[in-house]
Amino acid sequence: MESKEITISRGGLEGIYIAETTLCKIDGANGRLWYRGYPPIEVLAENSNYEEVSYLLLFGKLPNRKELSAFRERLKAERDVPPVVFDIVEEMSGRAHPMDVLRTCISSLSIYDEDPEDKSQQANIRRAIKLIAKTASIVAYMGRYRQGKDYVPPDSSLDHSANFLYMLTGKKPDEMAAKLIDLMFILHAEHGSNASTFSTLVTGSTLADVYAAVTAGGAATLKGPLHGGGADEAALRMMYSIGDPDNTETYIEEALEGGKRRIMGFGHRVYKAYDPRAKIVRKYLELYQERNPSEEVSRLLQIALRAEKLMLEKLSKTKGIWPNIDFFAGPLYRAIDVPAELFTPIFAASRMVGWCAHLFEYWQNNRLFRPLDNYVGEVDKKYVPSTRGSDPLAHTPGTDMGGWVWMHGLRCPGGTATIVVFTLRRYIYFQ
Ligand SMILES: CC(C)(COP(=O)(O)OP(=O)(O)OC[C@H]1O[C@@H](n2cnc3c(N)ncnc32)[C@H](O)[C@@H]1OP(=O)(O)O)[C@@H](O)C(=O)NCCC(=O)NCCS
Repeated sequence: MESKEITISRGGLEGIYIAETTLCKIDGANGRLWYRGYPPIEVLAENSNYEEVSYLLLFGKLPNRKELSAFRERLKAERDVPPVVFDIVEEMSGRAHPMDVLRTCISSLSIYDEDPEDKSQQANIRRAIKLIAKTASIVAYMGRYRQGKDYVPPDSSLDHSANFLYMLTGKKPDEMAAKLIDLMFILHAEHGSNASTFSTLVTGSTLADVYAAVTAGGAATLKGPLHGGGADEAALRMMYSIGDPDNTETYIEEALEGGKRRIMGFGHRVYKAYDPRAKIVRKYLELYQERNPSEEVSRLLQIALRAEKLMLEKLSKTKGIWPNIDFFAGPLYRAIDVPAELFTPIFAASRMVGWCAHLFEYWQNNRLFRPLDNYVGEVDKKYVPSTRGSDPLAHTPGTDMGGWVWMHGLRCPGGTATIVVFTLRRYIYFQ
């Protein structure tokens, strides 16, 4: 290929379109987001629910009442945690990162597939429903087990996210708590070709199955702190370290001094404006705090708002750094009793639908991902054989260092190691 045809990424494929999609539009300059072209995310967050949004993402249209009810029933029927998952959670928890536990559990779901050879769209939708329903239950059990509590079986009278909270806390959530957790599921359901979705597509493009793609792609990639992995948890930890709201400004100033540290929950590769999801989270957090005042959440909220104000003054205009969805998420989760180590697993449980929907869309026109890398090394460098016939001593590491020496009439690689090896060999021969 002519070099003029090659586009070299600035790094991280920034600014490169990797596929066409009708799933999600992000207007990063103006901080706007649409799922499947429906009213902006604010409207869905206010009026929709996770099941409706999942249907919309998977099928490309809003369900009517009958379709929604049938979809809900299919999700409910898949909520049980399968036996192998109990073993994995119990064996790995405490020794492994929660995302490692979740990744292994998600991978294990493939053994329960009714017909692995069936690659039809219908079978893949069945798999997506299984993955969406079971991942939420698995995360809830991971949370229970970490707290030394027993498994809570699903409750079919509750919707998807309310049931998740129930399986985690053992308490049926009130209307407002159910709304908050549902909101987090909706806001995390989809977000274009971010790192985890992209890697899901890369794995899927080899025609590996759904389980492989969401395990290797989604769940594994989400672990990293520059994507899902703990930015919300880190932001919450920062708020706890600040402790008193009056310490906020000093803490942030010191952290930013000389570009020393990043403030987690700020900045985004695509949004160069206020992340609309962060605004929604902040709004509902304030509302919840107003209706259910808690001293701890009030302190966290004050710190968050003061940090936000300072960051906006310092970095929004100069570097395009604004709050992202993770910044207010921590205090919101704390308000409804969700432990910090589950923040990223909940992101995964919510995003499962986005990963699957992207994968199915990509498969309609599948093409193996195989980008190029721009080789900048030398070519035709001098070849120096590293093996020396069948003499096992000749393979001793280190014998090919340091140029050439002549020993026993043979031209050999030099270096102290060679001399030692050959002296030893001579000794063995003459014994
Ligand atoms: C998300 C993130 C990786 C996007 O990064 P990006 O698009 O590659 O932006 P860059 O890393 O090129 O940063 C651009 C500039 O902003 C600064 N910056 C970016 N995020 C920052 C943050 N959270 N706090 C302070 N400064 C930040 C960088 O230091 C850099 O400054 P410089 O130009 O003086 O070197 C980055 O903003 C980040 O690390 N944020 C914190 C982690 C986080 O919240 N992740 C969740 C995302 S939803």
